[in-house]
Amino acid sequence: MTDPEREVVLRVVPHIIDINSNGHIFGGWVLSQMDIAGGIVAGRIAQGPVATVAIESMKFISPILLGDIVSLYAYEERRGRTSIGIRIDVAATRGKDQRKVDLTSGLFTFVALDEHHRPRPLPTG
Ligand SMILES: CC(C)(COP(=O)(O)OP(=O)(O)OC[C@H]1O[C@@H](n2cnc3c(N)ncnc32)[C@H](O)[C@@H]1OP(=O)(O)O)[C@@H](O)C(=O)NCCC(=O)NCCS
Repeated sequence: MTDPEREVVLRVVPHIIDINSNGHIFGGWVLSQMDIAGGIVAGRIAQGPVATVAIESMKFISPILLGDIVSLYAYEERRGRTSIGIRIDVAATRGKDQRKVDLTSGLFTFVALDEHHRPRPLPTG
């Protein structure tokens, strides 16, 4: 799923307070990291503030474990008049052998905002 050549937008490590009763990391923790990573890329494209309007798809592929180094890859998948669909892929570097494990993938939609917090056309060119 993840391309080693693709840009890592964010790299984070979960903490013990992020563990659920299964001993895995809460889904909400990774969703929040994905929102941050997607917002960084969308904000660059929009050249200004953006808001998350929708999570159109979300797949939890494998559990996130304490000790994982979590990398978030985000890139534009589609562009509308005021909105941008950002694909966010998340992978862990895990264990002594530093193996790569795909964790989640989602498509988040961000809307460029004007000073009144209303949709603003994306810059052209
Ligand atoms: C983002 C917000 C300003 C959009 O307002 P709105 O009245 O829905 O705007 P519009 O109907 O004109 O839609 C704006 C764009 O979003 C897209 N959009 C709206 N709802 C969508 C949804 N559920 N899924 C995908 N795209 C959606 C529209 O297709 C449109 O895209 P386009 O201009 O590229 O064609 C408003 O919904 C809002 O403030 N939401 C809360 C945002 C928020 O607090 N997010 C969490 C923290 S960042």
